[in-house]
Amino acid sequence: MKALVLGAAAGGAFPQWNSNAEACNRARRGDPAAPARTQASIAVSADDGAHWFLLNASPDVRQQIEHNRPLQPREGLRSSPIAGVLLTGGDVDAIAGLLTLRERQPFTVWATRKVHDVLSSNSIFNVLAADVVARRTVSLGERVSLTLPDGRDSGLQVELFAVPGKTPLYLESADGGAPPIVQGEETVGAAVSDGRGTLFYIPGCAAMNDALAARLRGADLVFFDGTLYRDDEMVRAGLGAKTGQRMGHMSLSGERGTLAAFASLGVKRRVLIHINNSNPVLLADSPERAEVDAAGWEVAYDGMELDVAPVPTRKEGGA
Ligand code: MLT
Ligand code: MN
Repeated sequence: MKALVLGAAAGGAFPQWNSNAEACNRARRGDPAAPARTQASIAVSADDGAHWFLLNASPDVRQQIEHNRPLQPREGLRSSPIAGVLLTGGDVDAIAGLLTLRERQPFTVWATRKVHDVLSSNSIFNVLAADVVARRTVSLGERVSLTLPDGRDSGLQVELFAVPGKTPLYLESADGGAPPIVQGEETVGAAVSDGRGTLFYIPGCAAMNDALAARLRGADLVFFDGTLYRDDEMVRAGLGAKTGQRMGHMSLSGERGTLAAFASLGVKRRVLIHINNSNPVLLADSPERAEVDAAGWEVAYDGMELDVAPVPTRKEGGA
């Protein structure tokens, strides 16, 4: 299975349109240690790039397609190697790109019932005409084969599983109160497999728990929520009043942080994605980047290509 990082940043991207913070300005100036990143999404393929499935449709999907040759049309006057989109939540940065994918191009959207309810209760998504774009509901824990628009099997299977999270920002109650962190169909992780290797895509997660740890233990490849380095970094930087916990994201540092949570899980390849523009790991010359490097994490970047295959066990004592 091939995986291609289309965008590595969290909602707002890097630089964010209204941010005058130094890190964003470094990205704008083209500083090589602060490369710009679009909003989080990856593409996966089991047939050597003939067909691709997007994990989430970022608001930047048009730019992402134009920057990635494998996702561009190859035949006829209208076509796309993008066979489907799998959604892990209803946040703006996960679904807004669906509006860009209009133009009567057949593909399938896979999501939980709850996330499909978000789409069907916002009539603007009807621009994806029902006779062209199929919407398939995936139950938690169900193993689904992803099909191509012509009905053939793509070679990929997917399972969606609940992770701790909260309701999308625009669905929070108007009183400003913090919504509860829950585990259900609103925020999910995806396990995508081609029968040889499995990758996990978890761009939003509020906490590690025993069930999630058990699921990820020994995994080939995990893309994980890299939103913030410190829970209060946005507050401290004067960027806003919200902590990571308030936004439904666990942070990298701290006793209950992501680095600590993964330390003994034996995941073979760990890649941070959905990285907020306030997170210093975006800067190649920051001490925080050195820390995540030392902890064995990679920081996703736009255009990063990964081959997902089981890592062969090293032969002991061989010649
Ligand atoms: C998040 O990941 O917390 C959301 O994407 C925030 C947002 O909707 O801007
Ligand atoms: Mn987000």
